[in-house]
Amino acid sequence: MKILVVYHSLTGNTKKVAEALTESLPQGTILSPLSEAPEPEGFDLIFFGFWVDRAKVCKPMEEYMERVKSANAAFFFTQVGWPHGRVAKKITLETTEKLKALGSYVLGTFHCQGRMDEKIIAMARRLPPTHPRSGFSFAKSALLAESELHPDREDLEKAAQFAQSVLREYQCLSTGTTKVSVDRKAKVLDWLNSGKYFIVSIMAGDLGLTDLEAIEALPPQMVRKAPAEDFKSLWETLALWPSALFLAVSPAAVVEVKGPIPLGTFNRDMYNIHDPKFALNGHLLYQKISQIFLLAKNFEGRDSLAVHFLTKEGQTGFAVYAGRGPDKTILREARESFLELWNLYS
Ligand SMILES: Cc1cc2nc3c(=O)[nH]c(=O)nc-3n(C[C@H](O)[C@H](O)[C@H](O)COP(=O)(O)O)c2cc1C
Repeated sequence: MKILVVYHSLTGNTKKVAEALTESLPQGTILSPLSEAPEPEGFDLIFFGFWVDRAKVCKPMEEYMERVKSANAAFFFTQVGWPHGRVAKKITLETTEKLKALGSYVLGTFHCQGRMDEKIIAMARRLPPTHPRSGFSFAKSALLAESELHPDREDLEKAAQFAQSVLREYQCLSTGTTKVSVDRKAKVLDWLNSGKYFIVSIMAGDLGLTDLEAIEALPPQMVRKAPAEDFKSLWETLALWPSALFLAVSPAAVVEVKGPIPLGTFNRDMYNIHDPKFALNGHLLYQKISQIFLLAKNFEGRDSLAVHFLTKEGQTGFAVYAGRGPDKTILREARESFLELWNLYS
């Protein structure tokens, strides 16, 4: 298998990330600065690494990417801006679209902050306040202070994990080892790359699949499966999360209830929740649940962790998402508990 990691780096941030992710790839992977890059033809998988230059992919890498047609591709970048910011989102979407338009599959993306070149900061600070470039829009002190520390050890570990997940993805696509067709996997991957907010039922609806068909076609690193018999123990675990989002999709509504998950009682084929202290009340027809899936998705640097309860028809009966704090990040207790479940079903 021939893998190329090609990067452009002025001050070394992107190079560090490129080196870290190459270390986690198979021996024989070619790591090359753009100036010495081989012709892109003949590689099974190409990782493109670049830095952000005035809210765009740096020009030399943009030109190189334009020469690559119909490849299995992944890309990563460093930038001074916030990882969840507008520029990172725009670059991720635009670059994905561009590669797809050239006939490539995008198997994954990654980005992190990278410290700004000292010379540029000094130059921006010297300019008079009236100058249009004075301070730059990104030369805000908190941002610069944070970016000083990056890429840090955690960024590099995440880069290595990203490389691993791309590799797994490539292996699934190329070997078609699972019963799910390569075509369906490609459709699902395309949808995931489209930048839409990830809700399984919406993705499945867009693609004309059942939720089960869509889940089975997801990249394997996003999914763990639990047996329906574990409903009780799983629900009891979810009830320990400080907050969650309960979601039920009907043909004409997506109903969401935010707050802690209440415990209920079994009565024949129902799990009844009647506790006025909680926002979520009602009856779960738990016997209609035939499979349970844990789904983890990172969307533009933001995690989404959910447990989906599927009916035997392959549709989501209901789902529970890990709750978020005021800063929109997933609550620590919910994340840790989800990870325990994840390991349990791995
Ligand atoms: C001329 C110039 C323009 C830049 N423009 C942006 C920008 O628009 N947005 C941003 O977040 N970072 C910007 N940066 C910061 C770099 O993208 C960031 O520091 C990156 O990690 C540098 O990577 P490198 O060390 O591999 O060269 C810019 C840096 C330079 C030198």
